[in-house]
Amino acid sequence: MRMPAGIDFSSNDYLGLAGSSRLSRAIADALARGVPVGSGGSRLLRGNHCEHEELEAEAAEFFGTEAALYCSSGFAANSALLSTLPQAGDLILHDELIHASAHEGMRLARCDAVAVAHNDTDAFGDAIASWRSSGGTGRPWIAVESLYSMDGARAPLADLAALAERDEAILLIDEAHATGVFGPDGRGLAAALDGRPNVVTLKTCGKALGCEGALVCGPRIVRDFLVNRGRGFIFSTAPSPLMASAVREALRILADEPERRTQLEALVAEAERLLVPLGARRTGSPILPLVIGDPAHTMAVAEALQGAGFDVRGIRPPTVPEGTSRLRISMTLNTGPGDIAALADVLAEVLP
Ligand SMILES: Cc1ncc(COP(=O)(O)O)c(C=O)c1O
Repeated sequence: MRMPAGIDFSSNDYLGLAGSSRLSRAIADALARGVPVGSGGSRLLRGNHCEHEELEAEAAEFFGTEAALYCSSGFAANSALLSTLPQAGDLILHDELIHASAHEGMRLARCDAVAVAHNDTDAFGDAIASWRSSGGTGRPWIAVESLYSMDGARAPLADLAALAERDEAILLIDEAHATGVFGPDGRGLAAALDGRPNVVTLKTCGKALGCEGALVCGPRIVRDFLVNRGRGFIFSTAPSPLMASAVREALRILADEPERRTQLEALVAEAERLLVPLGARRTGSPILPLVIGDPAHTMAVAEALQGAGFDVRGIRPPTVPEGTSRLRISMTLNTGPGDIAALADVLAEVLP
């Protein structure tokens, strides 16, 4: 593990909130109000705090869902969702590029899970049809990311939602990399689907929100089910109430400071202008993958960039498929246009 050093082209702090004065002040104010550092227990025992509950009420209102549940991390939330909600006889259909945390949940799930070709709605439909024709009678669960973490590719959410409607499936959408960045007030790429009875979304708080934890947003019955059956939720110390205060403030920042998203859009456009000619993929998102292929070569290029003062990380299998090792270049408000130009100059020298 390297310490963060050099100009940030690798974090998920897209809106530059992690070190913002508003979040620091929110924590200081909460401490001054007597909010404790630690929760002291599980939410179902003494660890439940009004900061958690207020955050959840505000998040449900903000995202337009019946309910929200604050979990200690996106990893914990994804594993709870997939291991707890689908029941025996159901089928989980997941995009082949879905995050490791969803795989963790599926390993513990009570039903089978099948991988489906990336972003291929017809393939999801075919997989459901073939399961039904071989006797499947339970409920299909479609699990996708709205913006894929290593590719910056967007899921065809409207088509998947129509499919879920038609085939009586439930759509689980991981909005980890879209929350705060896209949609009205930063409500994400699934903003138009939030509130539907067959949609559950996951908003992580450690990326654009600059905090920690994750919010599961959806129907109240989903929240109640996770509270009562989600082992990772029940048997784990509740997240710090201070962090819940910070996330409440982060949601307010999303609504109050739309200029952060405008600045990020401009940076992404500048990055695409300078880095796409060097091989980075144009994704219209703050994630610009530059696929090199060979893992050793990828890591050597990343090291050369780090040596020149740019924090760019190489990503190898199994995080990405074999043969697609890449630089994952991310844009955040921790960098400026001059930094991108400087990175492009060095990249042009160190790439083959
Ligand atoms: C798509 C996706 N889902 C879930 C997670 C896990 O979220 P957290 O970092 O809050 O555990 C990540 C983090 O890398 C992610 O990229």
